[in-house]
Amino acid sequence: MKDRFRPEQRRDLLRRGFSRRDFARLAALMTAGAALPFYNEAALAQGLSADRRMPADAIKLNANENPMGPCPEAVEAIQKLVPLGGRYLYNETFAFMDVMAESVGLPRDHVMAFAGSSDPLHRVVLAFTGPRKSFVVADPGYEAGQRAAEFVGARTIKVPLRKDWSHDVRAMAAADPEAGVIYVCNPNNPTGSVTTREEIEYLVENKPKDAVILLDEAYIHLSTTAEPGTPMVASDKDVIVLRTFSKLYGMAGLRAGAALGRPDLLLKIRGYAAGALPATGMVGAIASLRAKGLVESRRKIITEIREETVGWLKKKGFDVIPSEANMIMIDVHRPGREVNQALKQHKIYVGRSWAALPNHIRVTIGTHDEMARFRSAFGRVMNV
Ligand SMILES: Cc1ncc(COP(=O)(O)O)c(C=O)c1O
Repeated sequence: MKDRFRPEQRRDLLRRGFSRRDFARLAALMTAGAALPFYNEAALAQGLSADRRMPADAIKLNANENPMGPCPEAVEAIQKLVPLGGRYLYNETFAFMDVMAESVGLPRDHVMAFAGSSDPLHRVVLAFTGPRKSFVVADPGYEAGQRAAEFVGARTIKVPLRKDWSHDVRAMAAADPEAGVIYVCNPNNPTGSVTTREEIEYLVENKPKDAVILLDEAYIHLSTTAEPGTPMVASDKDVIVLRTFSKLYGMAGLRAGAALGRPDLLLKIRGYAAGALPATGMVGAIASLRAKGLVESRRKIITEIREETVGWLKKKGFDVIPSEANMIMIDVHRPGREVNQALKQHKIYVGRSWAALPNHIRVTIGTHDEMARFRSAFGRVMNV
């Protein structure tokens, strides 16, 4: 198959260490999008097929979703749109980018809409890493980008989180002079821990010249201390910020998200996509951004339930990594995998464990009632 890369794209691919033989495969991937193994929380949590086998009354604490779902304003906007769905609806995507730009204080050309943030996360890795350009991540961290790096033959360099669970920005900046992408998730998945603005600015100022800092802010709305990276985007640094409506905004199934970055960086990830985005997700996202007090009120609810759960766990003798997101990592004193399986017998589906923290399980914060059921099952499984 013949590839259709432009001369400057060919030069960029060669610079990243691809061989001419790779071109056709990459072109096919980028047009069809079919060959790339797509990983998001749902797939990483249990494997999509296992997810389908879950009993209908299972308590799902495994994918960092928000059981509150979309806010009423989003539901109303979506319901109003549905009868118009026979048309191609592009204007909703443009309107979403306008509202998003205003809400994050960036020029309109620094915002690109997507159906969630997994898509731009994969694209950034595909666009800026390669056999000679590595992917630098924190450990433990969100794994999806690594799969994309593997696909294009880029090396993933894992840098352990520091003792306070923040990103070790000095080690990440120094990890590889040929780094293509340095990925920072703030707050981090799975730990919920925060890396300060000063530390992230250090990384941006001290990174290898060609590297792009990919700042994943999927959980930023849930934290009171994490500071958005948008000012660095506004000052045209080599930073791409990812935002999603899957977490605090409760729209994981409806799909809306954005990449925020300098226009020339966004142009590099735009290539080869086709078609309009789901207008339901777009109007839901617009309504969510406009809903007054939504972020604060949802953050408060989730924080209260999280702290109640953490308090109970600590009383029972379990350490929990301090989290500012809708997930907690619990030290269960034995292989997390075993506890995960045992909880399933009680129809409680919790998150996975990480190789760096094999005795921890990640538990998403559900509703009050769901967490009461979690406590009861956890107590029985752990004999406490
Ligand atoms: C850190 C992080 N980034 C990105 C995503 C992708 O989510 P989505 O594609 O639903 O926006 C997730 C999902 O859980 C996540 O945890």
